[in-house]
Amino acid sequence: MYKWYLRTLETSFPLKVRPLATMTSEIASQQIVEQLKKVGWKEDRIDAVIPLIEEINQLKKEKNAIILAHSYITPDIVYGVADYRGDSYQLAKKARESDADIIIFAGVKFMAETAKILNPDKTVILPSIEAGCSLADSITAVDVLRLRKRFPGVPVVTYINTNADVKAVSDVVCTSSNALKIVEKLDSDTIIFIPDVHFARNIQRQTKKRIIGWDGRCIVHDEFSVETIKELKRQFPDIKILAHPECDPSVAALADFVGSTSQMYEYVRTTNYSRYMVATECGIWDRLRAESDKELLGSCFLCPYMKKNTIELILEVLIDPRPENIIEVPEEIRSGALRSLERMFELAG
Ligand code: 13P
Ligand code: SF4
Repeated sequence: MYKWYLRTLETSFPLKVRPLATMTSEIASQQIVEQLKKVGWKEDRIDAVIPLIEEINQLKKEKNAIILAHSYITPDIVYGVADYRGDSYQLAKKARESDADIIIFAGVKFMAETAKILNPDKTVILPSIEAGCSLADSITAVDVLRLRKRFPGVPVVTYINTNADVKAVSDVVCTSSNALKIVEKLDSDTIIFIPDVHFARNIQRQTKKRIIGWDGRCIVHDEFSVETIKELKRQFPDIKILAHPECDPSVAALADFVGSTSQMYEYVRTTNYSRYMVATECGIWDRLRAESDKELLGSCFLCPYMKKNTIELILEVLIDPRPENIIEVPEEIRSGALRSLERMFELAG
């Protein structure tokens, strides 16, 4: 696992991000260059990606395609070609509302699969078939059926970071931005909450209901330690600590704010404390460095799955996707997974 330590901001001024479609290609390219410089990209690397960005944006128009990018994706994609960027819930909503013929999902497989479940008639493409997720790999549909047998009648709330067949045998999907709301709204005092053991315990800290968890973990958020955060607090007593709910509860308990990637990003962007530590993947740090002048301390970690997506792969799949990049979900699984996803939209609003 790579570590990026002590990424204190050197400069800068807030940058307004305009959608590429409203700009001439010259101004758009200039804005992307500035953003890539702010996150520390060297000129030769920037020069190499600009022609690819221009080609992708042209092809998107010709093919009526959109690109949805999670904030953990590299900034050339986030700022150069993405039509929307955000957290899992925001991107699922965008996928649901889209009228594009093709959705390229710059994220991980469960996100692209979710887009396909919501849009069976569209072509949904995942640029890298290696973009998995340790949480999605931690549980199978058979595991869920066994849990149901062991705890009859207990509703199953399933994190969106799961495969389609797991969603299909669940009652409702949730994301990091709405999990507590959904748990509280369900008419049951006991809830099966899968598959992230830390997330389940973080929910347990906030609800009177009994939470039954599973032993899945995010390999990225599992890296954050209490010692590092305590040391930061010792050195900088005024520091604000933010943590994703996939972090260990001992880490989350030290945080001033626990929320989804977009909620953490908004918290930092819209508050004026002197320094912050954001316990999540480095993509959020990049977004904050590119779009704000806030001082970030501590360390972040890279998600090896998210980072499998490259701008070169996006161009390749836009020109001629290989069959394995095109997401398909068998109808008998899709219909069950769709029911669990629609229940989330209904309960989360
Ligand atoms: P968010 O929905 O908070 O963006 O989380 C997605 C994810 O994979 C976190 O690791
Ligand atoms: Fe999965 Fe963790 Fe990567 Fe998110 S950061 S995609 S939960 S492995």
